[in-house]
Amino acid sequence: MEIINKIRQFREDERQLEWRGTFKEYLELVKEYPHIAQTSHSRVYNMIKDAGITERDNQKMYHFFGHDIFGLEDSIEKLVEEYFHSAARRLDVKKRILLLMGPVSGGKSTIVTMLKRGLEQYSKTDAGAVYAIEGCPMHEDPLHLIPPHLRDDFYEEYGIKIEGHLSPLNLMRLEKEYDGNIEDVMVERIFFSEDRRVGIGTFSPSDPKSQDIADLTGSIDFSTIAEYGSESDPRAYRFDGELNKANRGMMEFQEMLKCDEKFLWHLLSLSEEGNFKAGRFALISADELIVAHTNEAEYQSFISNKKNEALHSRIIVMNVPYNVKVSEEERIYEKMIQDSDMASVHIAPHALKTAAIFSILTRLKEPKNQSIDLVKKMRLYDGEEIEGFKEQDVEELKKEYQDEGMDGIDPRYVINRISSAIIRKDVASINALDVLRSLKEGLDQHPSISNEDKERYMDFISAARKQYDEAAKKEVQKAFVYSYEESAKTLMDNYLDNVEAYCNKNKLKDPLTGEEMSPDEKLMRSIEEQIGISENAKRAFREEILIRISAYARKGKRFDYNSHERLREAIQQKLFADLKDVVKITTSTKTPDESQLKKINEVIARLIDEHGYNSVSANELLRYVGSLLNR
Ligand SMILES: Nc1ncnc2c1ncn2[C@@H]1O[C@H](COP(=O)(O)OP(=O)(O)O)[C@@H](O)[C@H]1O
Ligand SMILES: [Mg+2]
Repeated sequence: MEIINKIRQFREDERQLEWRGTFKEYLELVKEYPHIAQTSHSRVYNMIKDAGITERDNQKMYHFFGHDIFGLEDSIEKLVEEYFHSAARRLDVKKRILLLMGPVSGGKSTIVTMLKRGLEQYSKTDAGAVYAIEGCPMHEDPLHLIPPHLRDDFYEEYGIKIEGHLSPLNLMRLEKEYDGNIEDVMVERIFFSEDRRVGIGTFSPSDPKSQDIADLTGSIDFSTIAEYGSESDPRAYRFDGELNKANRGMMEFQEMLKCDEKFLWHLLSLSEEGNFKAGRFALISADELIVAHTNEAEYQSFISNKKNEALHSRIIVMNVPYNVKVSEEERIYEKMIQDSDMASVHIAPHALKTAAIFSILTRLKEPKNQSIDLVKKMRLYDGEEIEGFKEQDVEELKKEYQDEGMDGIDPRYVINRISSAIIRKDVASINALDVLRSLKEGLDQHPSISNEDKERYMDFISAARKQYDEAAKKEVQKAFVYSYEESAKTLMDNYLDNVEAYCNKNKLKDPLTGEEMSPDEKLMRSIEEQIGISENAKRAFREEILIRISAYARKGKRFDYNSHERLREAIQQKLFADLKDVVKITTSTKTPDESQLKKINEVIARLIDEHGYNSVSANELLRYVGSLLNR
């Protein structure tokens, strides 16, 4: 009965939050907590801000989006700063409709949904509390009760600017129910809820012929006209359109550009003037964030239409491109798989990464700088250190194209292909090759891929495969080394001792006998040769490493096995080279002898315990690497 208790507790908590009082009492609250009177845009911005912001390398990370949106830091920062932050400060952008533009399945709806769910939660906190005239279908801002001629005085006393007029309905209620006594009007705390249609709305266009503007702005309630005597009596009107219901919060406008123009004009007057027209009433003030989304093709055809010219300047377009970082793409897949019915399937290490490599390659544009190929660019974007490139170069690459990531393969396609790979295989375990195969087969069925793109995409499948082959080989070789990290570290320490002695023209001490020895040239060369360092270049390489070590020491950082990309590579290669024949023979033999069998079992156990495989995927990996090594 745990759950019943939780339900009770929840109800109790909700009750604690309720508040109801007269307008006079509300003003006392406002005096103490002025933020409860903030505009919708400001509330949205504060919600995002309150969730926390971390700044790293000149990049702001908004925790609010960080849980569910990956790899879009640049776009999110622009969106928050240039739209939400500016709108919160009542700058001009507040008067424009926010239009998220980006390729299909690039996270637009996810962003909007996060804002909606976020507001629902935020309105339950002290910082995000919202109050409204009690019983008002539009949850009207109580401050609208302050008559226009007193608003300057109000500003002087409270420091709050009031926007908007009292709605016709509340004007009438004020007179009929409260005898004009503003201070007695009842105010209540409200809680945003899309389900209950409080402060959160969604509008999606249906058949343009049948769709009624009433969906947005409400309509006459014919059954009550007789009672109130006239169509222009606001009590005979149902303020139940999406614009009404979303007042004080936000409204999502799906497929905005597919919509009939007359709908757009309503929105524009709302965002520009803060009011809209409904029925036979004076303009109705509303305060809400309007977010729409669309893809690029639709947007292009919209702006190329002369008729829409006046609308352009009233829309602010924010790009939501695809993520272009491999590791973030992996996180997207992981999240989508967790949320699906595939959550229990074993997905072998590298499977998602390999798929991500393919996807990212389809999204990137060819570097203009000839010395960088697409794969290298992809690795640089992902934050990998590549010899000869600096952070500066990555920035330069990003600047080459303004519209990178606006096309290519979408995450949903990948997830669907993984899902069909799982269905096809009768064991609940899939690996990188299964995924690549499925991605490849799916290209024929993909609705929006041209033949030209298909050819490029086939190349990317091969490129992803190549990356995987390397990773697979390394993984198996690592698993062959008993305690890989330790072996690597020992070898490296040994190398560094020798390098130090060599550069400083010192001798080394034999740890056992204490005898003095010259640096072990053979050992050093055997490592350096792994990465093609020539006899002539060895001194420079060794000196560079010593410089790196002392640079680390100055910063108080420890120089370790991962601190120097190429050295790490060399050490790894050296360890593998010593093992090469063992790995090759053991993995490819069809009839292993007893000692080979023992080794195989050891390696499989290590793959399972330390590298995240299960017995199916570990065996598959071993067989595959065996075939690779024997090519
Ligand atoms: N950058 C991203 N970060 C996290 N999830 C993403 C990202 N891009 C796409 N997705 C996921 O892909 C799916 C489709 O995204 P969605 O928001 O519906 O896209 P859109 O509305 O742009 O078509 C969702 O499950 C979403 O979580
Ligand atoms: Mg969508």
